[in-house]
Amino acid sequence: MENNTRKVVVVGAGAVGAAYCYALAQSGLADHITLIDKNTDLARGHVLDLRHGLPFLPSLTITAGTAADYRGADLIVITAGAAQQPGQSRMHLLTQNAAIIRAIMADIQAQDSTAVIVIATNPVDVMAYVAIQSAGKNRARVFGSGTVLDSARFRQMLSSHCGVDIQNVHAYILGEHGDSEFAAWSMTHIAGMPIDEYCPICGACENWESERETIQQAVRDSAYHIIDYKGATNWAIGLALVRITRAVLRDTRSVLTVSTLLEGEYGLRDVCLSVPCIVSAQGIDKVIESQLSPAEEDALARSAAVIRTAIAEAV
Ligand SMILES: NC(=O)c1ccc[n+]([C@@H]2O[C@H](COP(=O)([O-])OP(=O)(O)OC[C@H]3O[C@@H](n4cnc5c(N)ncnc54)[C@H](O)[C@@H]3O)[C@@H](O)[C@H]2O)c1
Repeated sequence: MENNTRKVVVVGAGAVGAAYCYALAQSGLADHITLIDKNTDLARGHVLDLRHGLPFLPSLTITAGTAADYRGADLIVITAGAAQQPGQSRMHLLTQNAAIIRAIMADIQAQDSTAVIVIATNPVDVMAYVAIQSAGKNRARVFGSGTVLDSARFRQMLSSHCGVDIQNVHAYILGEHGDSEFAAWSMTHIAGMPIDEYCPICGACENWESERETIQQAVRDSAYHIIDYKGATNWAIGLALVRITRAVLRDTRSVLTVSTLLEGEYGLRDVCLSVPCIVSAQGIDKVIESQLSPAEEDALARSAAVIRTAIAEAV
């Protein structure tokens, strides 16, 4: 049976893992969801609770799992780790979470799993690097959720600011999933027009040059505000992970700003950060090297430097 089913293993049943499971269960993308947590009661509790929703869900099996489940998985999504506390940057979680990722990757390797592996644990760029190293530098099959969430936040804020349907806003946040991330304005399009052409005719604000910086900063600060209010961010990252899941399980070849190991693209190597990538059933099929402005190239290099410093601490 397992061979014909699309099985997703979710590691970490905390705020993020549970939100992802809930959204994934409704999406119809997976036939079997397995939830693993070192707190086995937590995983069991979520599984029982979700199972009681089966009459209202697409056909689905939901189980609490163990490391043995990695063997038959198509996709493994890792959300396990210590979470960001109010006032803490994502980098605070470095060494603690690196050890957790290494241990989980060792368990996955021991099961000879061929699954695509997505890391959501923060600091996600460093954790993706640690996971890729553990997987024998397989950068296609292992990657981080990167700035898929930040790009969604950016699109939402642009859509709201300009009064344009979010589906007509194409925009990416690149670099670190963290304080050094930046908006790639040169790649931002509204109504099919480059933003530099759209802003002068938009009419939504007086001074669009200064508004851009305000919006970019609001994207960077989003997680801090949400964590101050409610202790964690979970709903939107859950949905962002479903978006990545769709690309993998349905082989959609979607362009997503996932965190990947660069091997010379953008003049950078041996560092994980987010740039637009084509995501398919094999994982990352292609890193898209777009033409950035000189300021964006500098911002990407600054992000790479921040992440490299953190990697040096983690490995
Ligand atoms: N990438 C993103 O965009 C994004 C967004 C939000 C949160 N996050 C990150 O996701 C991670 C999880 O956040 P959360 O709010 O769900 O945290 P949480 O504390 O609610 O849950 C983490 C869970 O991981 C489990 N865990 C720890 N070590 C484990 C191990 N070795 N094996 C299995 N399970 C283990 C814990 O028992 C806990 O249930 C954090 O690192 C957080 O910063 C990432």
